[in-house]
Formats: sequence, structure tokens, C-alpha cells
Amino acid sequence: MRAIDWVAGPRIGHIRLIDQTRLPGSLVELEIHTVDQLVDAIRRLAVRGAPALGVAGAMGVALAVGTMPESSARQAIERLRVARPTAVNLAAAVDRTLEAFRAGGPGDALATALRMRDDDIAACRSMARRGVELLGELCPGRARLTMMTICNTGMLAAVEHGTALGVVEQLHVEGRLDRALVCETRPLLQGARLTAWELDRMGAPFDVLVDSAAASTLARGGVDAVVVGADRIAANGDTANKIGTFALSLAAAHAGVPFLVVAPETTVDPGTPTGGHIPIEDRGAVEVCSFHGVRTTPDGATAINPAFDVTPADLITAIVTDRRIVRPPDSPGAVPVGAAVPGIGALDEEEA
Ligand code: MRU
Repeated sequence: MRAIDWVAGPRIGHIRLIDQTRLPGSLVELEIHTVDQLVDAIRRLAVRGAPALGVAGAMGVALAVGTMPESSARQAIERLRVARPTAVNLAAAVDRTLEAFRAGGPGDALATALRMRDDDIAACRSMARRGVELLGELCPGRARLTMMTICNTGMLAAVEHGTALGVVEQLHVEGRLDRALVCETRPLLQGARLTAWELDRMGAPFDVLVDSAAASTLARGGVDAVVVGADRIAANGDTANKIGTFALSLAAAHAGVPFLVVAPETTVDPGTPTGGHIPIEDRGAVEVCSFHGVRTTPDGATAINPAFDVTPADLITAIVTDRRIVRPPDSPGAVPVGAAVPGIGALDEEEA
């Protein structure tokens, strides 16, 4: 099963993706034939998660240049490029696919999009292997691990395998997962709805906890590591991810629990110097003031709804990508608050 894929067709083809707004109740796929349909799917989180957004952006460009006259394709692609601002994967994939189109036409754009889909599958496999190896080192003597995570970083957020949840899945496959603890992830419940759905399908043991129970659960002991994904990793290692990730990193540091960011190189943005430069999407009050269409706050209540926050590099034990592991030198496990993760902008620390 793939979260997003390309379906070949007589003219050019179209995008097929799982409608994540319908999970866990129904597994429904959407057939996307136009860029406007894709932009709508991205905005309402039918497709979401940084790697999946990258593949969606690339396929959207292939769709636009393969089906639309040039000037309307250009406008549609610009709408697509900015549909969600935080995950660098979307704009970067749009730009890369457009470049391929300019060099070689619609065929090259589609080939680039399909290569990005395939690269994502390979990258997730590589991150899972690397992440499990690193956990062996960070949690010596622990045969089976209890892992805490937030949001959804599984296959739904990528193509076929996940990033941080891919590490949890790999532990489960190897018989080394004791339990996954899944933060529900307010306000849209990507943890409770999507990660729990994926773990259930894998047959992995898990509990869902409300986000506000995470810190005390970590402080009580018994959690071996926290693994999270990323929407954008700045050149200094500061990492934007789902709102609540920063709080988790503080609690993990307080409890002395390793805090790992697992994300493909496509999420590293050397052009963004620090976390302070990362644009944070605000999704508006409705998602906070109501639940499933039912208002939960008094009429007239206002809300703030940042979809992401930034975890400073010095709270991250290690960043695991498909090419490398970046961590403070000599870090045996959890990083003491204040230790610095070396910059990740340049791919200069390659590990086997
Ligand atoms: O708003 P979302 O659901 O798109 O947020 C997703 C996340 O924050 C993920 O952790 C991140 O994109 C990494 S997905 C492998």
C-alpha cells in the first residue's frame, strides 16, 4: 500500500492518494486529476507529512505541465508551491520538478516525480536501519524498547514506509519493540487517528496518550527514546515539526531520555540558517475551537493554532537522515541541555 502514487493514463496519468481525513474510519483513495484538486487535498490534510507533500508537489507539477496550457500551469504550480509553507519538501520538490521540465519537457518532469517517489521509499528504508542501529548504541543492554512519538511519521506521511515511525516499525519487525507511546497530537489527532491506525495494522503494541501526559510519563521513567519526524531542518540543526514536539524535547532532556529526529535529506534546508527563519503555518481558530464540527468553546472565543514548533538543535540527541547521523561528538545518550548539535547544512559527516 502507498500513501501516494502515480497512475499511468492515456494522456499523462493522475495521482492516487489515501484520504487521510477519513482515517481511521474508512480507507478511501482519492483520484486527483487536477492541480486544484491536489491543492485542496493538501490544504485540508487529505495528504500530509513532509515527504508525502514533496512527492505530491512533484507529481502536481508533472500533472500541470502535462495537461494545462503554459500560463495557467504556471499559476497553478505557484498555488501548489505555497499550499503549506513549513515543510520544505513541498516547495523544493516543485522547484526541482519545474527545473526538469524546463530542461526536458513534460516527460522529464514526470520522470523526476517518479524518481522522487522511489527515492523516498529507499530513504525511509535506510533511515529505519540507521535509527535502529543508533538506538542499540544509545540504549545499551535494553533488549526491547519503549518508544514515544508524536504526530504521524509513518507510511501515510511518506510513500510506502515511514521516517520516525519507520524506526519503530523496524524495531517491531526485529522483535525489539516493547511498546510505542503515541501522543494524540492536538488539534487534528494525527497521532491518535493515523499513527495508531498504522501501528494497529502492523500488529505493534501501543498506547495513545494525551499530549499533556507526555512530560510526566517521560519523567516517571520507562521510556527508552523519543523519535519524531521533521518538516524542515535548518542549517544549524534547529528542527520544525508538529506542534508539541518542542515540549517533548524539553521533557526528554529533563528525564535524560534520548530525543531523535528522523527525516530524509530532502527535509534538510541549508538555505534556512536557523529555526527562527522557518515559516510556521497557522491553521486558524476553527480547528481549536471545535471538534468534528461541534463547537467546544464559547461563541466568540478566539484561538491561536500554530501547526508546528521549532526544537532547538541543542535539545536533539541526534538527527538521523538517509545519508548520515549528526550528533554532538562523544554524546553517550541524551544530550545535556546546552550541548550543541553540529550544523547539518553541509553533508559533511557521512556514516556507513
Ligand atoms: O500537519 P502535518 O500532519 O502535515 O504535520 C506532519 C508532521 O509534523 C510530521 O511529523 C512531519 O511532516 C514528518 S512526516 C514523516
